[in-house]
Amino acid sequence: MTNKYIYFVANWKMFGNLKSLNSLNKVISFLKKFKKNKIKLIYCPPATLLKPLSDKIKTTKIKVGAQNCHENENYGANTGQINSSMLKSVGAKYVILGHSENRHLGEDDNLINLKIKNSIKSGLKIIFCIGESYSQRRKKITKKILLHQISRGLRQIKNKKNIIIAYEPIWAIGSGLIPKDTEIFNIIKFIKKKVKGSKVLYGGSVNTKNINVLKKIDNVDGFLVGGASQNSNNFIDIIKKTFN
Ligand code: 13P
Repeated sequence: MTNKYIYFVANWKMFGNLKSLNSLNKVISFLKKFKKNKIKLIYCPPATLLKPLSDKIKTTKIKVGAQNCHENENYGANTGQINSSMLKSVGAKYVILGHSENRHLGEDDNLINLKIKNSIKSGLKIIFCIGESYSQRRKKITKKILLHQISRGLRQIKNKKNIIIAYEPIWAIGSGLIPKDTEIFNIIKFIKKKVKGSKVLYGGSVNTKNINVLKKIDNVDGFLVGGASQNSNNFIDIIKKTFN
């Protein structure tokens, strides 16, 4: 696992204010000592913190990502919405799309597909989330669901080099539960077979304990971390343990 770049994506969700950015100081000084290792570190704070976070990490290797965007890359009369070119203009290099928490609010595969296409046009890299629910898993239709999400979400997108896929089983998010390592391995293998050349991250309850198991999964390209990324000590611990 240590021969390739490993992604660590911090998804802060709807947490954090200007003060929370102080917690990055620790991560920044940790990174200076950790230079030798091949890591890609991406922080996805709420939209209100994109600009101050971009300013803060300007001289570091950390990159900034947003958590969602509107499907139209142009300006428009869409109260409360933010488009991908606006995200780009405040320093975002990535955007998370298709997160189950947004699918739950009604985002469907077609909308996600539009968002992906237009965000690519704006020059953003995509962290495209897919995952099955607990009942789908029990019905043993996980692969069918993932394939559906992949084929609809990535429809008409020929060049997928700027798309990273994040496999996040919905039932693993925030629950403390994770699939067996062999299951994750098989699902990632399946995703990589369907989307040739793709990088695939695992997300869902990644923490300082289970990282010791997760890091041994050969084909995983990194981790999308929610709760544990809000505490710098935990996040640093996850990164350190991955390379130990
Ligand atoms: P948790 O790590 O809090 O389970 O969240 C995972 C997630 O949804 C990241 O996008």
